[in-house]
Amino acid sequence: MNLFSRKPIAELQPESEAQGGMKRVLGAGDLVMLAIGAVIGAGIFSSLGTAAAGETLADGTIVRLGAGPALVFSFILLGAVCGLAALCYAELASMIPQAGSAYAYSYATLGEIVAWIIGWDLILEYAVGNVAVAVAWSGYFTSLLSGFGIDLPGFLTHGYRAVLLSTDPAVQGLMQSAPRILGMPVLLNLPAFAIVAAVTMLLLVGVKESVRANNIMVAVKLLVLTLFVVVGGVHIDTANYKPFAPNGWRGIHQGAAIVFFAYIGFDAISTAAEETKNPQKNLPRGILWGLAICTLIYVIVGFVATGLVPYQQLKAADPLAKALTVAGLGTASWIVAAGAVVSLTAVLLVFQYGQPRIFYAMARDGLLPGWAAKIHPKWRTPHITTLLTGALVAFGAVFADENEIYDLTNIGTLSAFAIVCIGVLVLRVIEPDRPRPFRVPFVWPVCLLGAGSCFYVMLGLPAQAWERFGIWLLIGLALYFVYGFRHSVLRTGRTVAVVPELEGPGH
Ligand code: ALA
Repeated sequence: MNLFSRKPIAELQPESEAQGGMKRVLGAGDLVMLAIGAVIGAGIFSSLGTAAAGETLADGTIVRLGAGPALVFSFILLGAVCGLAALCYAELASMIPQAGSAYAYSYATLGEIVAWIIGWDLILEYAVGNVAVAVAWSGYFTSLLSGFGIDLPGFLTHGYRAVLLSTDPAVQGLMQSAPRILGMPVLLNLPAFAIVAAVTMLLLVGVKESVRANNIMVAVKLLVLTLFVVVGGVHIDTANYKPFAPNGWRGIHQGAAIVFFAYIGFDAISTAAEETKNPQKNLPRGILWGLAICTLIYVIVGFVATGLVPYQQLKAADPLAKALTVAGLGTASWIVAAGAVVSLTAVLLVFQYGQPRIFYAMARDGLLPGWAAKIHPKWRTPHITTLLTGALVAFGAVFADENEIYDLTNIGTLSAFAIVCIGVLVLRVIEPDRPRPFRVPFVWPVCLLGAGSCFYVMLGLPAQAWERFGIWLLIGLALYFVYGFRHSVLRTGRTVAVVPELEGPGH
């Protein structure tokens, strides 16, 4: 009846290829590309604006301080924090090279209840995170359309929460001008809804996560960011760097806490462990190189964005496009907006693909009902959870405020990172002799600093994010005791009704 029962690592080993497991086709280079594909998205294209400019409510309440041009320090700080967590992910991923990522690692290290909590947190990372990506997508899509002279009405491109929390008079005005039904203003982010619906349809019929398609998306991302840096770079006005850190270290810290969203995703490539050639070597390489490259790109983009316009002007759903427009670079702005639409679609696909598969892993362990592990007989996709995820994300995106969602996603993901760091230490102590193809160097300081620094970044989030996270955890624990506790395959020895194997993503 132990809440902390651990799943033996031997059981977590994937089937070998010969036994009918997935094909090992990915090398370190592919993993780096996958990491960039999952990572570069709404964080750099959108949350960068709030991180630089800060956030103040209409009534004058300061939600968070902005980093100003010192945003580059926020990026460097996050690169270091994520680097520590990445080392820990790499050790666990090389020992337990199984799809399921942090959920699977924590089941093997810290026991069932912690694994459940991590799985529950991963919903914040994947599904809730995608709500923000969809809203950011809508911001860029709308600005792209206006480049063509098509202006959608504001009440159909802004969710209710976004209008409620906006300080932009034009957006605030929508509260009065929107049509009303039963006295309630109709404020819906329809483009955000539409893109989630479209992505869900694709995933339902089994779009293959293809390395080729990913590589094209990555090329688009890198090209538009390079364009931004080159075109924006020559128009930098050094006056914009003064003051460099308007809110001192607190601004850098609070800016980092929201722009952390830009780093989410490098952990997701550990889920490709079963398809990686020589995962013991290539996974750590892929994770660490992917992170290093993204950090470098972010520092450069942050430097150019805050040099191009006064940082206060970056406050927008599409800050990179806006900065170029404000600087009078209309064509470049249009191209960046188009590139952002493609990049954000790629991120949506990755996480919308991942979430149902995490549900699937949890259902296979008996922690979620069996229907969550159902596979469509023809499409070979987890159709029920794909639809459920799509419905939740689309519904959320219709009403959401991006910043609130970034906060919730970040706090959930950072706590999962911290638990992974602790998990490495626990496993070193309780199973010191198990082979570790990749070993975290200086394990005690690295793991403790990793967990501590994730917690430190969490402290930069507004109080409201902590309250919501607390409520989220309580709901999760209640669900565990109502369901998972009584149905866990591991603790009860019960067998789950035959669960079909998922078809591996093709490449
Ligand atoms: N890091 C991903 C993004 O910024 C989640 O969109």
